[in-house]
Amino acid sequence: MAISVSRFAALTFLAVASACLVKFGQLPVAACIPLVFVLPFFFVTYGGGGDGKTPPGPVALPVFGNWLQVGNDLNHRNLVGMAKKYGDVFLLRLGVRNLAVVSDPKLAAEVLHTQGVEFGSRPRNLVWDIFTDSGKDMVFTEYGDHWRKMRRIMTMPFFTNKVVAQYREMWQEEMNAVVESLRAAPAEGVVVRHRLQLMLYNIMYRMMFDVRFESAEDPLFQQATRFNSERSRLAQSFDYNYGDFIPILRPFLKGYLEKCRDLQSRRLAFFNDNYVEKRRKVMSARQGNNDRLRCAMDYILEAEMNGEISSDNVIYIVENINVAAIETTLWGMEWALAELVNHPSCQNRLREELQRVLGEEPVTETSLPRLPYLQAVVKETLRLHSPIPLLVPHMNLDAAKLGGYEIPKRTKVIVNAWWLGNNPEWWVRPEEFRPERFLEEEGEVEAVVGGGKVDFRFLPFGVGRRSCPGIILAMPLLGLVVGKLVKEFEMVPPPGTEKIDVTEKGGQFSLQIAKHATIVFCPVLAA
Ligand code: HEM
Repeated sequence: MAISVSRFAALTFLAVASACLVKFGQLPVAACIPLVFVLPFFFVTYGGGGDGKTPPGPVALPVFGNWLQVGNDLNHRNLVGMAKKYGDVFLLRLGVRNLAVVSDPKLAAEVLHTQGVEFGSRPRNLVWDIFTDSGKDMVFTEYGDHWRKMRRIMTMPFFTNKVVAQYREMWQEEMNAVVESLRAAPAEGVVVRHRLQLMLYNIMYRMMFDVRFESAEDPLFQQATRFNSERSRLAQSFDYNYGDFIPILRPFLKGYLEKCRDLQSRRLAFFNDNYVEKRRKVMSARQGNNDRLRCAMDYILEAEMNGEISSDNVIYIVENINVAAIETTLWGMEWALAELVNHPSCQNRLREELQRVLGEEPVTETSLPRLPYLQAVVKETLRLHSPIPLLVPHMNLDAAKLGGYEIPKRTKVIVNAWWLGNNPEWWVRPEEFRPERFLEEEGEVEAVVGGGKVDFRFLPFGVGRRSCPGIILAMPLLGLVVGKLVKEFEMVPPPGTEKIDVTEKGGQFSLQIAKHATIVFCPVLAA
């Protein structure tokens, strides 16, 4: 029986495609058998990038688009390789999803600032939809009235200078507890993340609920960290891409999605039963006398009582703070300390600044503006190791124009903020950890998210409407922890090692240190 050339090509393609899926570990072998029969019916041709209207990109195959070519791990470094080939804005077709990647400061300014409304939504994704109940939260919701309301309601209790002033003493308390515990640390060093994680949970839970965890053994602390890290793992993984990109493969994702749903319902019940309900009782005991709103949750519950938001929205605010505030800041701290261990001259220069400017005075939130090298260390850490290197993905609800190209509606738009801060065309020896750059050739560059002079090469918190409101807390928290630890300790690698391993581990849009750093803390003797 004769077989046509096109049928032969299609079958060859299917065989290769199935083999690739199995190779990527995305599909059980048995699943490929029905696939071979079903796929031909789904063959549609659609133009790859580079048709002159949409941005350039690799030619897209039917059904799979570019997925088999580019693979799963679309991390900041792999995207740089593609930007060099296809340009400052390029388009990938990943099954039914479009992905536009922006790698240039002027185009970033377009997406985040000039056309901030047009590109101000967040893309949908099967897993994120589960973890946010399709956008009942703030971080992953589409641009519009709901997002505006949530952002307004969250601002007063979390994101103002008054909040920073209200909590600065509590921050000191929690940080001093870390310093004290490190004085008794063993000579072989400690995994610093463990101490800092308890501190950050305490800082955020005291701000949110006016509660704290006594120790890392506290069962509630252990549950909270387990729930959050499992949520992070499932949402940031690339393992579910195949079902998200290619609808006919979704049945194979059923188990994964069930796992997400089960985790999310237990996790939200944990937040609700242990924290939100307790605050609700405190609020109703006050019988409308709200003169003494004590913690962020009181303000949020007041908005609920006024009918501005629902109880679902309340719980998703808690969920958002758990994911957006704690791990990001923790990753930033881990990166900063690891780089200071690996660059003793920077560590010494910082200690010298702290001793010269402050003497016996402790490092406090109000002393930070007097410590320019400390601020340079924080900025350099966020430039070289941005915890959110691709920002949180943006999306355009309607077709839009960018750099002279058409961006199809509902395209996931990624700004490669890491590359904006690490492209040798714009930075001197960007691969080096050199805080001095922010006092010398880049002395004018600040991390800002709104107003002020924005440098679109340096966007660790994004900029514009969807930028990080938590910058107002994150920058002083980072500066304080780094400043206090360097003032009190000489930090060195564990015995028998020369350097801390700073290999990266990326997720859908996160970047953390792959092996949590073990650091030896040697107390600095008073002069
Ligand atoms: C070093 C620490 C942090 C880094 C690097 C960071 C970075 C970012 C980035 C890049 C975005 C997305 C910007 C965009 O899409 O254009 C973001 C969004 C967000 N961040 Fe942060 N963040 C940090 C800490 C915090 C903290 C401490 C909080 C809260 C207390 C917070 C709350 C949020 C929220 C609520 C959003 C979503 C904003 C929106 O969609 O409107 N972040 N963050």
